[in-house]
Amino acid sequence: MKIIRTVHEMQETALSLLTDNKTIGFVPTMGFFHEGHLALMEQAKKDNDIVVSSIFVNPLQFGPSEDYEQYPRDEEKDIIHAEETGADVLFIPDTQDMYPRKMVITLDVTDRVNVMCGRSRPGHFQGVVTVLAKLFHIIQPTKTYFGRKDAQQVAVVDALIEDLNFPMELIALPTIREQDGLAKSSRNVNLRQEEREEAPWIYKALENGRQLVVDGEKNPDIVVKEVLDTINCYTSGKIDYVELLSYPDLQPVSVIEQQVILATAVYFEGARLIDNLLFDKNGEIAKRLK
Ligand code: PAF
Repeated sequence: MKIIRTVHEMQETALSLLTDNKTIGFVPTMGFFHEGHLALMEQAKKDNDIVVSSIFVNPLQFGPSEDYEQYPRDEEKDIIHAEETGADVLFIPDTQDMYPRKMVITLDVTDRVNVMCGRSRPGHFQGVVTVLAKLFHIIQPTKTYFGRKDAQQVAVVDALIEDLNFPMELIALPTIREQDGLAKSSRNVNLRQEEREEAPWIYKALENGRQLVVDGEKNPDIVVKEVLDTINCYTSGKIDYVELLSYPDLQPVSVIEQQVILATAVYFEGARLIDNLLFDKNGEIAKRLK
């Protein structure tokens, strides 16, 4: 596996791969790999000639009171894991190279962000699409891979690719979970022990909500209330939001009669956790995004 640390070398490498007609599968990450990241790389390996992954903790997507400094980092382990998983190139640029000066041009996101995480993290998705647009230009992937745990991010990236005509396919893979149901996340290591024990209730709460839909419930408020009550009852976390919206356009619904997302974010002292389920009007887990 080749480790590339400069934008210039990454660009040259991508250009030469494209000249050789190689397909590139790209997995953008902020590092501290868990099975979720590795599953994306494995799928990219199956689908493409070359797998490129990036590790870059992007300052633009963190608010001033957010966990940019505390975001877990372990480059040495990440390199070993990426190599074992079969990545061909690991791109690890530094901040100075990615942002040599204050950006004159950034991207704005005008829809799909006034709900869920976008509401409590103003500017977050602008930061995400800005760094992704740079990475897509530098790497020029054929396909790019994201986890469905960050379902709002997937909806925004879907719009980025479509609205700005990036010639690539977005592949979104199912959330990978711990045995007890907790969605794998780099932030889980920052949970205190009691919080870690309570955290699987987030997934159980979402499943309880989905079960109501399986049983015929069509009223989103009742489903949302079930999730709120379960999380409040079984965890010490502070709920940021529980929302049920159409997907991927993330609009409010008054009756569940199409594909929807049931999503939540919960603040623990150690970390803010997010999770979601994507299902159809009968509560069946969605296989495709749209
Ligand atoms: O999901 C992430 O890890 C980040 O938001 C991403 C896509 C790598 C952009 O910085």
